[in-house]
Amino acid sequence: MSHAPIVIAVDGPAASGKGTLSRRLATQYGLRHLDTGLSYRAVAQALLASGQPLDDEALAATAARAVDFSGFDAAALSAHEVGDAASRVSVFPPVRRILVDKQRDFARVPPGAVLDGRDIGTVVCPDADVKLYVTASPAVRAGRRHREILRLGGQAEYEAILADIERRDARDMGRADSPLRPADDAHLLDTSQMSIEAAFLAACAIIDAARAGK
Ligand code: DC
Repeated sequence: MSHAPIVIAVDGPAASGKGTLSRRLATQYGLRHLDTGLSYRAVAQALLASGQPLDDEALAATAARAVDFSGFDAAALSAHEVGDAASRVSVFPPVRRILVDKQRDFARVPPGAVLDGRDIGTVVCPDADVKLYVTASPAVRAGRRHREILRLGGQAEYEAILADIERRDARDMGRADSPLRPADDAHLLDTSQMSIEAAFLAACAIIDAARAGK
């Protein structure tokens, strides 16, 4: 008997905790994990590193074609400027087409995968077995990110982080091509009042119920 790959789609805004949750879900269900934000960050980082502009669609598409999905340097891609630049290059339809094709190829490999991003349930894997939309209020997300930066020994102003999150939300939700929004059949998980552990348990309950119902 052959088993089709299992795909779990996890979407949500910046700093919603979807990355941490997705990694844990991949371990729990024995699936591979792809943080699709890293692929947009890789495009942005390539342009920044070679001094190329971020507003040239053709240059960004060329950088997207060169992105290697076999491994991302998460440390180099985690910088704040890279995330902001990724949000800017992600508005270009050709960049999205090229990266979405590669993301789908990743999802097709058995035993399947947890993919997290902005458009997984709506565009990349509309037939995903389970779709989660993870969110939290901007104030809660800014607070979490602020504490994380301080914990790592960095410095940051809460107000600046909040403004940044609100700007990124507006861009990611307002773009014409594949804006961030919950798929019609997504399960909403608002983690504003939840610990990471509680969010993980709630997600497992949703996934187990969805899979039992198939
Ligand atoms: O999740 P992240 O912060 O690493 O994502 C960086 C940017 O990449 C995000 O602001 C918008 C873009 N992105 C996207 O357009 N679609 C995805 N599936 C993932 C990220």
